[in-house]
Amino acid sequence: MSSEKEYIALEDILSKTSITKYIETNWSPLRKVGSNFITLCPFHDDKKPSLSISEEKGLYHCFSCKAGGNLITFVKEFKNVSSGEAIKDICDFFDIKIELKELFIKDNTKKISQLIKLNSIIAKLYNKVLIEGKSSQKAIQYLKDRGFTRKDIIDNEIGLAPESWDFLVKFIDQRNLNLGHSEEMGLIKKKEKNHSYFDFFRNRIIFPIKNRQGNIIAFAGRSLNNEEPKYLNSKESQIFSKRKILYGSNKFSLLKGKKPKFVYIVEGYTDVLMMNKIGINNVVASMGTSLTNEHANEIRKLSDRVVLIFDSDEAGLNASFKSIEPLFGNGIDVYKLSLPDSFDPCDFIKINGKSAFVNILKNVEPIMDSYIEYLKIQYLEKNKALNSIINEFLSKLIYISDVFKKDIIINNFCSTFSVSKTEVEKKLNSLNSGSSSIDEKIKTDFHLSPIEIALKVFVENIKSRDANLLKEIEEVAKPEIIKIIDIIKKDLNLEPAKILTMLDDESSKYFSNILFTSTEFNNELSANIIKECVVKTRLDNLKEIKRKINMKLSNAKGLSPDDEKALLSELNNIIKEEKKIKS
Ligand code: UTP
Ligand code: MN
Repeated sequence: MSSEKEYIALEDILSKTSITKYIETNWSPLRKVGSNFITLCPFHDDKKPSLSISEEKGLYHCFSCKAGGNLITFVKEFKNVSSGEAIKDICDFFDIKIELKELFIKDNTKKISQLIKLNSIIAKLYNKVLIEGKSSQKAIQYLKDRGFTRKDIIDNEIGLAPESWDFLVKFIDQRNLNLGHSEEMGLIKKKEKNHSYFDFFRNRIIFPIKNRQGNIIAFAGRSLNNEEPKYLNSKESQIFSKRKILYGSNKFSLLKGKKPKFVYIVEGYTDVLMMNKIGINNVVASMGTSLTNEHANEIRKLSDRVVLIFDSDEAGLNASFKSIEPLFGNGIDVYKLSLPDSFDPCDFIKINGKSAFVNILKNVEPIMDSYIEYLKIQYLEKNKALNSIINEFLSKLIYISDVFKKDIIINNFCSTFSVSKTEVEKKLNSLNSGSSSIDEKIKTDFHLSPIEIALKVFVENIKSRDANLLKEIEEVAKPEIIKIIDIIKKDLNLEPAKILTMLDDESSKYFSNILFTSTEFNNELSANIIKECVVKTRLDNLKEIKRKINMKLSNAKGLSPDDEKALLSELNNIIKEEKKIKS
């Protein structure tokens, strides 16, 4: 690139720039496939690369969400800016100057600032209602209960939408503000009947939502009378995309350009505000949606490490683990913090104070450690199969690019579940290779277990079916298989195809997998094969119980002496039984 900037005409901009270079530098690495390039799509929650880019044509297309266009549309969508700003951005990036004809700035830039201005006026109105209104006691009381004072209300421009159908509509009318724009942003709506407008937020506390620059781009409303949903957002608009915006990101300007060690990610508006209140400004919340690739992309601009502080309930846990993919996938390191007694950060700080919270922030742990702990519970207490535990683990692990980190995590997993590292790594490599998606691979990774072989051989040899043999299979079978056996029991002569139609969806998929997976056995000697499989299953089942007992024993801290004794004697019995079967 020359140091002298070139002056070129707007029409020429696309021929002077490289769409692949822009996307590669500003978004994520590209891979060449044929004459095109592919990468993750930034416009939806993409798991495998579905964005295809043609350098030759200067175009991109997403096969999954159907986003598409040229470099200018890409930048517009990617950065959520107007065409004018996109062109400016592109020229800055490629170090080129264009002949600025006045007309091309005519576009969205003006409208965007109008929308922002309108929001700011409306925020002031709602704020005034809350501070001065006669009917705001209930709202003030809620905020007080949550730990917020009059000063917090003023500082954060928190407001109140009164219990009225036309409070805002009238205000917009009187002030001659833009009704169309207000509707576009979802602050007012049209009645179906006579097309007159009514207020979207009624009897709700209003939290303004700001972008990184501090402009109000949307609102959230918290209901005051237990009306569902508890929180409502104003509409997605030209300036507000829920998949992208992180509540609280405007406060990062207070860090004066210093990149913080972590970005804290919390669930709620009140959590962000309370942490801000005690001086923690590197905190954001995604607003009731799970974290997307776009969020991760925004986060990366703020820091390359996050700490998730989500609720400790099942939903909060799931949300934490779900965000592993977009975060790791975008090169962000993820940690997790659990607060005791199902506190959210807001409650915790209100009750225990700032120093207790700052203290507890030291307890962050790498997310994969808590994920392995979670899988352990799934395995020991929820009876999830080891194979699907390994698959779930690998489906997260695959997003970690740092090989050393990956190795430590694999070690932790293997020692927790006492499985062999070589086997886990082999599986990981097979997931990493080839072009089909991980989900597909995990689905097609179907080997028959001995009990499944026994069942297959039994059903496929109608002539030699025998009730006693079936009983033997049943004795060692897991619930999925017992469901199938229950049907065969009623009529020993049922054709496999008939059995399929009598099962529920889930079981019928499972059964057809068994039927379609080929084995090395032929039709003779079926009784012997079945008997052998049953013995093998019996031993496998014992091995599984042994593994679980050993896992519980190795968690010595949580065990009473009595528990430990009971587990040891159980272990003894199993070893005896194994010997008996083998002899
Ligand atoms: P919470 O239910 O924890 O609410 O939801 P909260 O923030 O602690 O607030 P209060 O004290 O009950 O008023 C956490 C976050 O989930 C999103 C909001 O972003 C909320 O702050 N959420 C929750 C919604 O978007 N919609 C809902 O209906 C509920
Ligand atoms: Mn909460």
